[in-house]
Amino acid sequence: MKKRCKIYILLITVFIIGSIIGIKKINKVDLNKNLLLYYNFDDLKESSIIDKSGNEKNGTKVGTAAIDSLGKIKESLLLDGEGSVKLPDNILNGVNEVTISAWVQFNVSNGSDWQRIYDFGNDIDNNLFLSKNRTSTFNSNKNVEGTVGSSLYTDDKWYFVTTTITKDTMIYYENGIEINRKEHLKNKIGNLTKSLENYIGKSKYGTDPNMNGYVDEFRVYNKALTLKEINQLMCYNISDKEIVSIASDEIGLEEKEELSDNISLPTELAGNVKVTWSSSNKEIITSKGKVTQPSGKDDVDITLTAKIEKGKANMVKKVLVSVIPKDAVNCSIKINTSKPKFDISPNLYGLFFEDINYSADGGLYSELVQNDSFEYDDKLENWTLLKRGNGTEADIEVINDQPLNDKNTNYVRLNVSNPEQGAGIINSGYKGISVNKNAKYDFSFWERNSKSQKVNFIIQIESADGKIISDIKNIECVNDKWTNYETELVANSDDKDARLVIYTKELGSVDMDMVSLFPQDTWKGVKHGLRKDLVQMLYDMKPKFLRFPGGCIVQGRDKEDMYQWKDTIGKIEDRKTNKNFWGYYQSYGLGFYEYFKLCEDIGAEPIPVINAGMSWQNAGGDGISSYIAEPGEELNKYIQDALDLIEYANGTVTSTWGKKRAESGHPESFDLKYLAVGNEQWGDEYFERFEEFEKAINKKYPNIKLIVNSGTAPTGKVFDDAWNWSKTKEFKGIVEEHYYMPSDWFLQNTDRYDNYDRNGSEVFVGEYAAQSDNKKSNMETAIAEAAYMTGLERNSDIVKMASYAPLFGKENNSQWTPDMIWFNENEVYGTTSYYVQKLFATNTGNKLLDSIIKLRSNKSSGLFTVSSFDEATGQVIIKVVNATNSTKKVNFDLIGVDKNKLDGTEIKLSTSNIKNENSFINKQKVAPVTKKINGLESKFNYSFDRQSLTIIRLEIVNK
Ligand code: AHR
Repeated sequence: MKKRCKIYILLITVFIIGSIIGIKKINKVDLNKNLLLYYNFDDLKESSIIDKSGNEKNGTKVGTAAIDSLGKIKESLLLDGEGSVKLPDNILNGVNEVTISAWVQFNVSNGSDWQRIYDFGNDIDNNLFLSKNRTSTFNSNKNVEGTVGSSLYTDDKWYFVTTTITKDTMIYYENGIEINRKEHLKNKIGNLTKSLENYIGKSKYGTDPNMNGYVDEFRVYNKALTLKEINQLMCYNISDKEIVSIASDEIGLEEKEELSDNISLPTELAGNVKVTWSSSNKEIITSKGKVTQPSGKDDVDITLTAKIEKGKANMVKKVLVSVIPKDAVNCSIKINTSKPKFDISPNLYGLFFEDINYSADGGLYSELVQNDSFEYDDKLENWTLLKRGNGTEADIEVINDQPLNDKNTNYVRLNVSNPEQGAGIINSGYKGISVNKNAKYDFSFWERNSKSQKVNFIIQIESADGKIISDIKNIECVNDKWTNYETELVANSDDKDARLVIYTKELGSVDMDMVSLFPQDTWKGVKHGLRKDLVQMLYDMKPKFLRFPGGCIVQGRDKEDMYQWKDTIGKIEDRKTNKNFWGYYQSYGLGFYEYFKLCEDIGAEPIPVINAGMSWQNAGGDGISSYIAEPGEELNKYIQDALDLIEYANGTVTSTWGKKRAESGHPESFDLKYLAVGNEQWGDEYFERFEEFEKAINKKYPNIKLIVNSGTAPTGKVFDDAWNWSKTKEFKGIVEEHYYMPSDWFLQNTDRYDNYDRNGSEVFVGEYAAQSDNKKSNMETAIAEAAYMTGLERNSDIVKMASYAPLFGKENNSQWTPDMIWFNENEVYGTTSYYVQKLFATNTGNKLLDSIIKLRSNKSSGLFTVSSFDEATGQVIIKVVNATNSTKKVNFDLIGVDKNKLDGTEIKLSTSNIKNENSFINKQKVAPVTKKINGLESKFNYSFDRQSLTIIRLEIVNK
């Protein structure tokens, strides 16, 4: 005992000396050194914001920005969502490194993730910002880099936020802890030298709201501070008591955790805070977190006590955890492999594609020119006039006299009165045209030369600063009638921000329309086809169906913008541009023919959605559509559209609509089996109309299965009305349900379909997604969806189909989040939800197996499972979702398996932090990992990581 005591004293002495040496080693940063600007906002009486750095860079209050006495340190800046502070220009001039730090607190959420804390730089393509979703983005010449946050700051809580940028690394810190970093930066902070629009509380993106909250101690340094320096800065003028309280949030243990593995007990927290741990039972958990499982039968409950201290300030935090016995498992799962329960729906997992978030034009449809037919409200949007040479005189106008056809009435006229080195038009695509070195592009346009004389056009791709980056093609046009011309261009360098240039050196007026540029490298090499990388993501999921084209887009806000499938087929120049429900334009280059073809290519059943003769019911929040077709002639037109669609998909080549399909290149039927009438409609008016559709379609096409809506939510009157209707009418079709709910809802409702009436209508979960605070897909939402999907599969005798929504989100162009797949002009990544969907869709057998889960105690709840047998491979497929915070051990018993040794694979989706998500910067931060499994017996134990989805495939029948 005495010896031990001596050792302790020795250790403590070494620790104290070590600490003293350590403390001496910390170079205390001179808080004024390298400071470019410092606002402490302690200026209640001043009209401007006074710079305390000595550099006289005072700020200007804009709008309602005010100084408030409730600060983190004395007074602070109060922003109410309307005001901001404008900083002086050129703050970052000549700077090679930077640190921006501040205390921030948000007020009651105003619903936007993108509220800006600060935004520095010239414009949206050259700036550095931090927003409420903890995203610190660094843009330079449209090269977007940065650290992406995964959740919102909690309201009414102060945070110390710091972003540093060196030559090649950007780091985001919170409360003195590094949260994430981006290395190998391509952008340089020196590129923001102009920094003419620098704000606290205001974004450069017009659509983002101003900040609603407080800012204090705002500092900008021309140096990247180190972690120790940042910690010192955070502690500046803050009492040790407060530092201890901030640090105590970072301990990271949950009450009642059921432990079997060692745990990490931090001894040092940000702000030089020390933590000393003690355990109520050192035999089982030491103060260093070493866990020795007890040998008895029962769990052992242990209190872990953390003494958190800095200087004289300290606080104590206690956490109650339990450790399970050595040989114990958290639960047992018995799977009966000899008697499958039922055939799993062959179409269970599929896709819902809506033209939202620029998923079609600017997305899947690979046309690179935006506003190719000059039909936008702002007719020259994305077009500029090119005048080469000082004396060039030319103008452009959009007119509609003698247009290409009556669907496409606008075109551009270029009038050149002095051509010098040439005049023409430039299209900048969707925020820049992305081209790849050596890739080939198809250029085409319609031209009419009013004088009927020879006009030579020069066609090329240029970088944003006017450098030619493709070969140069000449097209000679001699025609006084609209004529289509084509040529091929080859890019000679990579450029994400290129533009298409068409010009002439000749005098006179020329008319142009349908100006187009497509990559040749499309999905399956189809001319003017779909974006290869995006379709590949879908193909890889092996989806069983594709619901299209929406969503609200089908309903329209009014009659004018409803989706009319007949406008979307035939020659591209005959398809009428539509301004859609989501506020942007559809060329319909991705039309119904292309949708059917896409379904065929990816092996999915087509499920078109057609308008039920009613526009969107949510406009006034009262359920009343602004347009509703009267029964009779008006409604019959919509019903006829539905009948014609079926004929278009399935009719013979001699039928009116089947002939049109054949003319587009598909004489064979598309074998349409399902049709959804309406999206998210409800109420008597809807059901009356639906019944009219039903009568006509059943009469002519009795084999088409109809899908009826049940509104927008998983419960409530509208929802119940739909199911009551289906019951009363003994509806033989499918009821479609939609729900976007928080993760907890999904975890709590995995048994939703267990008690659905087996004699009632079948179910199609047409749209669903778990939503996090910041409306992003992260591991937390993905795990909730995975848990829920075990319930869908377990009930797939009645839940016939299910699809996550929305499918695609386009960077900086989205109207709805979360989305399953994100893309920009040249990149794509799958979110955590994508991987969950893909893993379920590609790992489901055809027979459902009964699996009985028995938990050791309710501390183990949070485990979800479903099993199936796949006759094609002879494999049992076990899915386990561990939605808890600790590893879970499970004992499996595969009843009815004769084989002695079972081999197979494990596919696991797991990550260290539940808030982790994928991003353009780190596309596979969370991605599945596969490993081989060998030699299991029919009874075996298996461990499942905290917050993970694991799929075990074992061959139980030789194949
Ligand atoms: O998926 C996004 C939208 O959500 C769909 O357009 C609509 O059906 C639902 O309200």
